[in-house]
Amino acid sequence: MTGGAGFIGANFVFNWSTATGDPVVTLDKLTYAGNLDNLRMVQERKEHLFVLGDIGDCALVGALLRQHHPKAVVNFAAESHVDRSIHGPEDFIQTNVVGTFHLLQEVRGYWEMLPAPERTRFRFLHVSTDEVYGSLNPDDPPFSESTTYAPNSPYSASKAASDHLVRAYHHTYGLPTLTTNCSNNYGPFQFPEKLIPLVILNAISGNPLPVYGDGMNVRDWLYVGDHCDAIRCVLEHGRPGETYNIGGRSERANIDVVRTVCRILDEIHPGSPTVPHEKLITFVKDRPGHDRRYAIDAAKIEKELGWRPKESFETGLRKTVQWYLDNQAWVRGVTTGEYRKWVELHYGAQHQPS
Ligand code: NAD
Ligand code: TYD
Repeated sequence: MTGGAGFIGANFVFNWSTATGDPVVTLDKLTYAGNLDNLRMVQERKEHLFVLGDIGDCALVGALLRQHHPKAVVNFAAESHVDRSIHGPEDFIQTNVVGTFHLLQEVRGYWEMLPAPERTRFRFLHVSTDEVYGSLNPDDPPFSESTTYAPNSPYSASKAASDHLVRAYHHTYGLPTLTTNCSNNYGPFQFPEKLIPLVILNAISGNPLPVYGDGMNVRDWLYVGDHCDAIRCVLEHGRPGETYNIGGRSERANIDVVRTVCRILDEIHPGSPTVPHEKLITFVKDRPGHDRRYAIDAAKIEKELGWRPKESFETGLRKTVQWYLDNQAWVRGVTTGEYRKWVELHYGAQHQPS
């Protein structure tokens, strides 16, 4: 698993190793978004090995593949935040495009050397986003696997480029690839630069809740545990060369998401400095090029693989709010930057990534 110390990756490492008991090697560069505390539920398991490193480091990736002989590679590693991509696109091109290319090259070299039965069973699963499809108008049908790519931010453009490379490695070299394009995730261990954790943490501290523009941009929300189940399903039963859209059929305007978080907190955390929490909502300048609406048609994965989300938006959101309230030590580590000290302690200051 690459990028397994990030939000979805860490949830997936736990999900996969709990469901299958398979050994897992997690390769992660530990950028600001990577946090070993996210892997605390698996770190003690003898089946799990963490390796600090970059997916673009061909020598390291090649050596890991030869040493551990994986039956699959799942690529979560990416720069993932749209706002950061607007202010500094370079890292997005480096990891999401160049890094994925180097990873594909090494995986292809490894796969070509496998004995025939293992070569047939091997899978490279690339985790991608619905943002590659661009923006929908209110009455447009949701994105399907045949929707034309039309990325609008440096983040989505870099993910689109990586998806195309994955596609090309299947068509050109026969690498048994799978690509998943998922809608917005939320749940435990999400870095508080993204809307839902940011709103929860600001609300309980009495800080403003920044809503971009008119708050009417729509996202299709999926609980991270449901996303992990979907990836497991695709990895086990997906057809090589195919792409699968994953979504929660939970379209919500941002302002409604923020109000729902506020209402849950009014109920379960009435001791916050400002109650009702909605008083903290502040409309701020819009994000440049802000996509208006994303929505996913998940019919293919539902029909072909039988996957369906278990959580509704309301049940998943309640669990998530409760998780952030119950995990103040994690929150403190992330908000104070304490979590980054681990890299320095174990690898020395020269290994501190950006
Ligand atoms: P995240 O930013 O929380 O985690 C990314 C992880 O990748 C971090 O641990 C980071 O240290 C690691 N990483 C970054 N560059 C690396 C490199 N060069 N080499 C090795 N590791 C590196 O992201 P996330 O939200 O967990 O997203 C995971 C994947 O899912 C991404 O590919 C993202 O595009 C995709 N995705 C995310 C969402 C969402 O809502 N968060 C939705 C759909 C798809
Ligand atoms: P985000 O969590 O950054 O995910 P993405 O940009 O990948 O969809 O943002 C979700 C939505 O919330 C998006 O429409 C931007 C909006 N947003 C705010 O209104 N305020 C904020 O502070 C943030 C971070 C996002």
